[in-house]
Amino acid sequence: MQISVPKTGNFKAIASGIPGVNPILQNEQNKRVFVAQALNPALKGLNDKATESNLEGPLYVPNAPERQMGDRLGIDPEGEPLFLSGRVLDVNGQAIANALIEVWQPNSQGLYDILDPSQPVGNFRGQFHTDRDGNYRFETVVPNGYNVPADGPSGEMLRLLGRHTWRAAHIHFKLSATGYLPLTTQVFIDGAPQLDSDTTFTVRTNILKLQKHESADAKAQHQPPHTAEFNFVLKPIEAAK
Ligand SMILES: [Fe+2]
Repeated sequence: MQISVPKTGNFKAIASGIPGVNPILQNEQNKRVFVAQALNPALKGLNDKATESNLEGPLYVPNAPERQMGDRLGIDPEGEPLFLSGRVLDVNGQAIANALIEVWQPNSQGLYDILDPSQPVGNFRGQFHTDRDGNYRFETVVPNGYNVPADGPSGEMLRLLGRHTWRAAHIHFKLSATGYLPLTTQVFIDGAPQLDSDTTFTVRTNILKLQKHESADAKAQHQPPHTAEFNFVLKPIEAAK
């Protein structure tokens, strides 16, 4: 089990009192992550240029439906349409063609397909490939946030800290391309409730700014869709050597 590096030095002291958490901090691989990130300024430089990795969460499912450029990611009659597009680039700004983008998100009610029997399997999940210029594009809905389970060690820790269990609205991504380090991250919806207090402390640089798009069709539906752009930047494999 891998963990992201906490931003505060108090994390270990807090976590050491929670049953089931301390062994994670003693994991040899996680110790190496702490040391490598603290002592490798060259890697830090590339990290500054590359898209920030972030929490995968427990709701990733491999082999999501394969979709084509521009496809709809899922069905949600209550959702506000969102047309999301962007490019996958290297740290020098060059396009990465045929990059695999896996995406998964909750619907407008904050529910993932695998936890909501009313949704078809694979709803709001998909795999896309970038075109020769590194472009990707798909239609989805603006996701809502959701509460994480309040039982077990994580729930006990949140209670001790006096924290709520809310996750701010976000979309998960995994990217991979030949010659580049895989990227797992999440992109948060600008202005979403609890953006500044997400229970996982993971809201940092990946913010999706929505633009309202006033098309004629949208006005007829009384539901203007949103558009947003987000570029992903991948690090070359050489950066890890
Ligand atoms: Fe999530």
